[in-house]
Amino acid sequence: MSAEVINGKELSYALKQEMKEDVKLLKDKGLTPHLTVIIVGDNPASKSYVRGKQKASDEVGISSDLIELPASTSEEKLLQTIEELNNDPSVHGILVQLPLPDHIREENVIVSIDPSKDVDGFHPVNIGRMMTGEDTFLPCTPYGIITMLKSKNIEIAGKHAVVLGRSNIVGKPVGQLLLNENATVTYCHSRTTDLKSFTKQADILIVALGRTEMIDETYIKEGAVIVDVGINRLDDGSLTGDVNFDRAKETASYITPVPRGVGPMTITMLLKNTIKAARGLSG
Ligand code: GUN
Repeated sequence: MSAEVINGKELSYALKQEMKEDVKLLKDKGLTPHLTVIIVGDNPASKSYVRGKQKASDEVGISSDLIELPASTSEEKLLQTIEELNNDPSVHGILVQLPLPDHIREENVIVSIDPSKDVDGFHPVNIGRMMTGEDTFLPCTPYGIITMLKSKNIEIAGKHAVVLGRSNIVGKPVGQLLLNENATVTYCHSRTTDLKSFTKQADILIVALGRTEMIDETYIKEGAVIVDVGINRLDDGSLTGDVNFDRAKETASYITPVPRGVGPMTITMLLKNTIKAARGLSG
């Protein structure tokens, strides 16, 4: 068997066409969704991600601006900048690109963002709402993963989902969203012993380990759904995931590729959250 590929780039394109219409309707009512992105320092990868976020916003008609602060910026100055944006009614979404320089405490920055403008879904209030299943901003990568599964009508309820990785941005929240969809969820991580004994039980396997092409068919149950969240650059400059795609696809029923998999969905869900922020959380 060869798995069906879930193409995140194509799905993103379709979702962006829908969002263009949503934004047009909001603009007709005099409301232009606006995203402000803050970047501190000049990490080239962060700059490239931020450019991608602004380009995608532009594609659907969301206006955006970028506040670039030097790496030497104090935490106090950053918090002050965020406070001004919290109080600016023309700003609907605020995104502080991570990672931040070492002298700035990330947790202080995240809690300083007004939860109603937290389009990353990183604020503890929004994480709490996600855990209780309330309507809120969902973190973009996990939200994108669930959207990919649903786009193929993949059954989640009653399935055993195994999540490899426990980061605050991907592993922990994607497990929670799968639980909210009534999956039975197991988390595995760097301290898990006998990883294969868990992965071989997975109906849905989410791989967010940061280990280049580590997962091959020997970890996978026949017919499993494989979601690869890894983004690793090979020596030749090309991108690959945490899953060995060519080997895994022979055993899986569905699989996400890298590139053109989860990556494009992350930005697309940020746009969804920004439109939601412009409408107001309950809208
Ligand atoms: N750095 C890497 N991924 C993300 C993300 O999703 N949001 C923010 N703010 N920073 C990131």
